[in-house]
Amino acid sequence: MENKSLNLSSLKGKVIAIDGPAGSGKSTTSKLLAARLGYTYLDTGAMYRALTYYALTNKIDLSDGETLTKLAKILPIDFKTTAEVNRVFLNGNEVTDEIRLPEVTKNASEVAAHQGVREAMVLKQQEFGKDGSIVAEGRDTTTVVFPDADVKIYLNATVEERAQRRLLDLMKMGVTTTLQELKDDIEKRDFMDSNREHSPLMKAKDAFLVDTSNMTFEGQIDHIITLIRSLLK
Ligand code: DC
Repeated sequence: MENKSLNLSSLKGKVIAIDGPAGSGKSTTSKLLAARLGYTYLDTGAMYRALTYYALTNKIDLSDGETLTKLAKILPIDFKTTAEVNRVFLNGNEVTDEIRLPEVTKNASEVAAHQGVREAMVLKQQEFGKDGSIVAEGRDTTTVVFPDADVKIYLNATVEERAQRRLLDLMKMGVTTTLQELKDDIEKRDFMDSNREHSPLMKAKDAFLVDTSNMTFEGQIDHIITLIRSLLK
């Protein structure tokens, strides 16, 4: 295996943005990459999930964009990240596991489709990244949040492969579901994320496409680090 250490001195202050559909490997890749670079890791999806979790537990109508926008502006969302885990806090309370529950996953696309919600979240995300040295991942980090990112990557994998990965994650959390149910969910979310009116998921023209379907996780990291090295040297 190749030596994955990076020349950190030349990489201070850069913005690396990684987008892609659910289960493409963005989170694990970005987290590890950020740890290796000594960068901040920003999981923008966790922010939409945290708001969705709040709305579900407080019985807020998910079609009420105005109320959700107000909440997106005022609810504090914070992270405490290590190479292993990205802890998420909403209003000071840890919601790391809760925001991964299938109920939140199913409903997050609807919450994330409101323009006001997106605008509020994008401002927060840009604030997190204002000093650079950040790996941000989501659906619009390469197009809307950080359009001038130093490196833009679009990760993808087949629906089958992405559903398999999600199944393993959920099994580890003790959640019971089926592969077919996950495939249906992923297809539905892909459709909603890619066809919504505001900031739909798409590959930025200047983003590098990486298909992870047939890559091991280590292979994927090697590939991305090689790509970043070649782009930033
Ligand atoms: O990446 P994820 O599965 O944790 O994302 C959760 C939801 O948030 C998903 O429905 C897509 C949405 N999302 C978004 O609209 N924009 C982002 N930048 C990140 C996620």
